[in-house]
Amino acid sequence: MSQSVKKIAVTGAAGQIAYSLLWRIANGDVYGKDTPIELQLLEIPDAISGAEGVAMELNDSAFPLLKNIVVTDKLEEAFDGTNAAFLVGAKPRGKGEERSDLLAANGKIFGPQGAAINDHAADDIRVLVVGNPANTNALIAMHAAKDVPNDRFNAMMRLDHNRALSQLSAKLGCDKNDINDLVVWGNHSATQFPDLTYTTVAGEKIFDSLDHSWYVDEFIPRVAKRGAEIIEVRGKSSAASAASSAIDHMHDWINGTERWATAAIPSDGSYGIPEGLIVGLPTVSRGGAWEIVSGLELSDFQKARIEANVTELEEERNAVSHLLG
Ligand code: NAD
Ligand code: LMR
Repeated sequence: MSQSVKKIAVTGAAGQIAYSLLWRIANGDVYGKDTPIELQLLEIPDAISGAEGVAMELNDSAFPLLKNIVVTDKLEEAFDGTNAAFLVGAKPRGKGEERSDLLAANGKIFGPQGAAINDHAADDIRVLVVGNPANTNALIAMHAAKDVPNDRFNAMMRLDHNRALSQLSAKLGCDKNDINDLVVWGNHSATQFPDLTYTTVAGEKIFDSLDHSWYVDEFIPRVAKRGAEIIEVRGKSSAASAASSAIDHMHDWINGTERWATAAIPSDGSYGIPEGLIVGLPTVSRGGAWEIVSGLELSDFQKARIEANVTELEEERNAVSHLLG
């Protein structure tokens, strides 16, 4: 039986991530193949024509599930009745920059968007912030949406998680689908901590037999700095892989997963991480909500890595305190 129509907002609709993301959404990869969708595309006035061109191409693709497309530069139209919002629209970094260097330019985008989501979105709204620095931008949007439960605001760290899966499977020569219990703690920044302490491959723990110098000196920095490596080699920041990971995140959030995923969600104080910070955590998704995997023992090495992320996220939060109403 056909489901009721879902409205999905995508900001930065004329940008490079949206050019991959929108085709996956229109294909039914978020809500499923029996759920019709409407797209609400937000752009800044200077890029509206680009977004209109994207909408023309989406129409030309004749997706059976895609019932309507709105292209707008008005927040209240973009988030009107929205069930799921991908907040992508923001400046990407260039070579030699850190993502936190974008905070001054991008942070101010997310307060007004959070406020418009608060006033206009559907009750079941789920928001995934992709624009960098994603964790702190999500914090800004969450603070501006006083009537929306905090846990509806996530930042994307699924790309980091997928990068970790890929690097590990290449090292061990194993199938990515056989890897479980992997997490990337912290911030979507070079400080992030891709953690293999609990990881299993085909049900077997691997940590004790792992090459620890590879883990510490190659795996962790490779995953944490992969975004910069892509910029160096490709000349532009990641786009299709970011879009694919955004689909993975929203799909699993809505439809559930018992396999661990990394989602950056508001901390509930678990693992000594201050409540409210939006932080990458080990999660599963049940009944349409992320649940933090509980009861994990942390070594001193893990605690130090997580603490470095907390310090950085607190510094970012302090830098935008004027935007946290
Ligand atoms: P892009 O420059 O190709 O596109 C960004 C688009 O956003 C542009 O079309 C721009 O006009 C639009 N935009 C700017 N301000 C806006 C606003 N206030 N409202 C609506 N639209 C607005 O950039 P991109 O490559 O698509 O990347 C977008 C963001 O995603 C960047 O900040 C990038 O760093 C980030 N990113 C995050 C991850 C992650 O894992 N979290 C991965 C890749 C990229
Ligand atoms: C990524 O991880 O690829 C994105 O956050 C883009 C970037 O600036 O690294």
